[in-house]
Amino acid sequence: ETVEWEAASYDMGGHDTFMHKEICEQPDAVDRVLRGRIDDRFSTVHLGGLNLDPREARTIRRIKILGCGTSYHAGLIGAGLIESMARIPADAEPASEFRYRNPVVDPDTLYIAVSQSGETYDVLAAVQELKRKGARVLGVVNVVGSAIAREADGGVYVHAGPEVCVVSTKCFTNTVTAFALLALHLGRIRDLSVTDGKRIIEGLRKLPAQIEEILKTEDQIKEIAEQYAGAQSMMFIGRVRGYPVALEASLKLKEISYIHAEAYPASELKHGPLALIEPALPTVAIVPDDDLLEKNRAALEEIKARSGRILAVAHQPQAKADHTIVVPKNEDELDPILMGIPLQLLAYHTALAMGRDIDKPRNLAKSVTVE
Ligand code: G6P
Repeated sequence: ETVEWEAASYDMGGHDTFMHKEICEQPDAVDRVLRGRIDDRFSTVHLGGLNLDPREARTIRRIKILGCGTSYHAGLIGAGLIESMARIPADAEPASEFRYRNPVVDPDTLYIAVSQSGETYDVLAAVQELKRKGARVLGVVNVVGSAIAREADGGVYVHAGPEVCVVSTKCFTNTVTAFALLALHLGRIRDLSVTDGKRIIEGLRKLPAQIEEILKTEDQIKEIAEQYAGAQSMMFIGRVRGYPVALEASLKLKEISYIHAEAYPASELKHGPLALIEPALPTVAIVPDDDLLEKNRAALEEIKARSGRILAVAHQPQAKADHTIVVPKNEDELDPILMGIPLQLLAYHTALAMGRDIDKPRNLAKSVTVE
C-alpha cells in the first residue's frame, strides 16, 4: 500500500527527469537549510523548532536516530557528526527493527526520527511507541506539518523543497546538513570550542559552491557510468565516515538501475567480500584525504592485486584506481555531504544508460504509509 505519486503537480523545469532536477537543485537546497540559522557571534547555529533548552541538552547521555531507507543512511552520517562534534554517543537504526526488538527506552537518551515525507509508517509507529513510554523525540523532517513532525516534541526542518522522484537525493543531502547543524548546536552547548565552531561554520558556508563544482563534473561521471552499466554487481566500500556514504550510494544504484550492489566497511573486506573480487565486480571506493587515507589506499591495493576494477571518489587522483572522481575538500566532518553527490550522478547515468524508469523504479514507492 502506497501514497499516490503526485509528479504531475510539479514541473520538471527543463530536466528530463525529476531525479536530475533534484540532483541539480542541491546548491540551492543546502543554502536553504543553512539560511538564517548561523550565529557567528557564538560560532553556533539557532534551530528555532528544537524545543530543547541548553540545560536539558547537557543532560543527554545518548542519541538514537531512527529512519528507513535513505533517511536511515542520513541518520548514520548524522550519528557520526553528533559523536564527533558533540561527543555524545550516537547511533542510527532502521525504525522497524528498533520497534520490534522491544528496545530499552532510557530517559537520558534523546531519540531522533528522520523522514523526508514525515509519513513513513514504521517511523511514525516508533515515535508513537517512544512517546507512550515517556521518551523525548525530535524530528528531522522535510515535509512541514507532516505526521512525524506533529508527533515529535520538536525538531529541525530540512527545507529541501518538494522531492518528487521516488529515490531521495536532495533531501538526503539536506538531512545530513541539518544533522551537521544539530551536531554543531549540541557541540557548542557542550565541549566544542569556538575555534572548531568557526571552522565548521566556514565549512558549511562553502558547501553550495562546492556542490556546484561537483555538478560540473557530470560529463565525466556519465562517461564512467556508461562503462559500468553492464556490470552484474558492484561493491561499495568506505571507512568510518565513508561507510554510510557507500551504503547510500549502493542503495541508490540498486534502486534505479537494478544492478545488485552491496556496501561494506573497507576494513571488513578481508573478512569475506575479498573472495568476490575479480575483474567483473567493480568496486566504488570512498577515499577522503583524512587520517584514514593510508588505510583506504591499502584497501585499494588489495583489490588491485586481485584484478578488481576501482572507481575512487577522492580529493586527489588515486594511483590504484581505474577512475577517480575528484571532489573538493571541506572539513573532514563535512566531507561525506559532498562525497555522496557524484555517486547520485553515477547511479543516475548508469540507470539512464540501461534505459530504466528513473523517477519511478519498479516495486518502490516514494512514501510507505502502511506496515
Ligand atoms: C521509501 C522510499 C525511500 C525512502 C524511504 C523513507 O522506501 O522509496 O526513498 O528513503 O521510503 O522515506 P521517508 O519519507 O521516511 O524519508
